[in-house]
Amino acid sequence: MVKNRKIFKICVIGSGYVGLVAAACFSKLGNKVICVDKDRNKISSLKKGVVPNYEAGLDKLVKEGVKKKHLFFTSAVSEGVQKSDIIFIAVGTPSKDTGEADLSAIEDVARYIAGHLNSYKLIVEKSTVPVRTGKKIRETIKRYSKKGVEFDVASNPEFLREGRAVNDFLSPDRIVLGVESKRAENILKALYKPVKAPVLVTDINTAELIKHASNSFLAAKISFINSVSLICEETGSDIEKVALGMGMDKRIGREFLDAGIGFGGSCFPKDVSAFIQIAKKAGVEFRILEEVKKVNSGQKRHFVEKIKEELWTLKDKKIGVLGVSFKPDTDDIRDSPAVDIINMLLSEGTKIKVYDPKAVPKARKVLGGVTFCKDVYSTAKDADCIALLTEWEEFRKLDFKKLKSLMKYPFLADGRNFLDKNLMESLGFKYTGIGR
Ligand code: UDX
Repeated sequence: MVKNRKIFKICVIGSGYVGLVAAACFSKLGNKVICVDKDRNKISSLKKGVVPNYEAGLDKLVKEGVKKKHLFFTSAVSEGVQKSDIIFIAVGTPSKDTGEADLSAIEDVARYIAGHLNSYKLIVEKSTVPVRTGKKIRETIKRYSKKGVEFDVASNPEFLREGRAVNDFLSPDRIVLGVESKRAENILKALYKPVKAPVLVTDINTAELIKHASNSFLAAKISFINSVSLICEETGSDIEKVALGMGMDKRIGREFLDAGIGFGGSCFPKDVSAFIQIAKKAGVEFRILEEVKKVNSGQKRHFVEKIKEELWTLKDKKIGVLGVSFKPDTDDIRDSPAVDIINMLLSEGTKIKVYDPKAVPKARKVLGGVTFCKDVYSTAKDADCIALLTEWEEFRKLDFKKLKSLMKYPFLADGRNFLDKNLMESLGFKYTGIGR
């Protein structure tokens, strides 16, 4: 906690990946935070300090916050709203079939807030929302609240990555504040004072747009390098070196140039689709982003084809899958490319064993017809192929000699270019990666 600074009374509505991290981190900064969720089971676990998702460092922060009485949990929005000065909205904005974001949870929350406004409140969007949502929130709260109660709406998009969420929240590259009054700007600047990061103040529409544009740009960067990787495969070039060479240009940067089986997770696929729809509504055809999506799903099919090329027919072939989460250091399997690839392989008649350090409990709920293993070696037993689909650090330090001796045919399909190709080949594996 930082001395001599104002302690804010904060309510965070929605205790998902973003909401819970925000609540825990704001409490860590010394504020009093009430975290609200309509899921009563989740709330009662959180009251005991039990975090529903695996996220490094979050457990500790939540336990500390609860113990020090800086962090409270409730399923009553009324309590959260009435006892707080700043209310963050961090509920989900899932995709509709059209790709558009479903804003019904946001609208519900806006109405609840309106019904319980008892003094000036600053209402801040944290969820990723389409441009002009802030305006709708303001109109909704005005419509359903008592006359004369003052409030402001602001946008403060969150850029944290899963797996590094706590660190990203407390040490972000930038803090974006979309505001429409000096009062809101001052409150948010004071709240974020202990966080050392450049602050960009904009209007609300602009802040909302920054979030969709940033995620879509990063997704485009990944699809770009994945397209280049296909050229590398045809021309005998090495995508790893191409990415390195490109990344040495400061204007490009090396990050997000890792070719592989494509991006997944709860943000990129959803946000790219939502941004296409936002553009359409604004009369703009964002064709690049349509291609970004196509390239991304093409990578999964391409990877399955590479396995097929080596094993010829896939029926009854045994494949050991390493990693099912959409990226390492998380148990999140939402929109994980690994899940899609496993399903594609299953539809070709393969027999699949799966190992993941954290994501197995979640994977069990969505993957039928596969065997889950307790470690890498039991996954490899009698396998015709090991498919590495998530780059968990522990996969780098395996006993590869043992792994090879367990397999029926030592074929490594590395969907993340994670293993050292030369080393694997020198150990006698048949190795295939992406774009090299
Ligand atoms: C992303 C954004 O990075 C974050 O700023 C935003 O707040 C939420 O969405 P996250 O979904 O947690 O974060 O994961 P991220 O680390 O960005 O990776 C997204 C996907 O892209 C993963 O599936 C990852 O494997 C893939 N990826 C990433 C690549 O395929 N290549 C890369 O070079 C980088």
